[in-house]
Amino acid sequence: MEIFSQADILWADIEANNDGPIKVALVPTMGNLHAGHLQLVTRARQVADIVVASIFVNPMQFGATEDLDNYPRTLEEDIEKLNAEKTDYLFLPTVDIMYPDGLDNHTSINNQYLTNMLCGISRPTHFQGVCTVVCKLFNLVKPDIAVFGEKDFQQLTIVKKMVADLCIPTEIISVATERAEDGLALSSRNNYLSNDERQKAPQLYAALQTASRSIMTGDRNFSQLCQLASEQLSQQGFDVDYFDIRDQHTLALLDDGSSNKDIAILAAAKLGVTRILDNLKISL
Ligand code: PAF
Repeated sequence: MEIFSQADILWADIEANNDGPIKVALVPTMGNLHAGHLQLVTRARQVADIVVASIFVNPMQFGATEDLDNYPRTLEEDIEKLNAEKTDYLFLPTVDIMYPDGLDNHTSINNQYLTNMLCGISRPTHFQGVCTVVCKLFNLVKPDIAVFGEKDFQQLTIVKKMVADLCIPTEIISVATERAEDGLALSSRNNYLSNDERQKAPQLYAALQTASRSIMTGDRNFSQLCQLASEQLSQQGFDVDYFDIRDQHTLALLDDGSSNKDIAILAAAKLGVTRILDNLKISL
């Protein structure tokens, strides 16, 4: 795997080593790679000739009270893992390369509507940071395809909308959430859970499955299902941020009785200081 911090040098290398048209897939990450990320690389490999992974801990998507400095940075292990997956390139830009004039003097991209819900309520500047950096990575790496995980479902929806709205010529492909054996969605943040919290954590997915089963058997009393799930999670020690039933494509909240067929149940809750996110899609 070749590693470059400058995209023009990365592209010069791609061109020097390839004749004719090639398809490039990008897997954008913030590092601290786990099996979920490696699934994205595997998918990228299936759909493209060249796989570029990027690692950039993007300061713009961290809020003022969120601990950017303590975000896990495990570059050596990440490089080993990407090498083992036969990744062709690692794009590893620095903060100076991405934000040469600083964060305050940088154009940003935001979708106010999709940000004013779910995780965006407690993290109001997060998705603006995500959109800006993803757009920038797309403009630098110029991928034909970019691969994202479904675990961050709101992020995936917002990126798809940005690509459509801004006519960005990159196809977005998503990959189902990778889970531990007990159902917990894999996430770099799981490392922060204490042993006791780690034991409890899969109950979030269990609550999504319970709600999903009710919907599949015809229950359309969405507000009651969400309330029940939130109450049960609170009793189990979770500090629930949201438990919502929404349209899978637009993320619009579904009214009770709605006959919508493509549904997403989305949840976020804290165990101690660690915020865990999960979702379940239902297509009836
Ligand atoms: O999901 C992530 O790891 C990040 O939000 C992303 C998409 C790499 C942008 O920094």
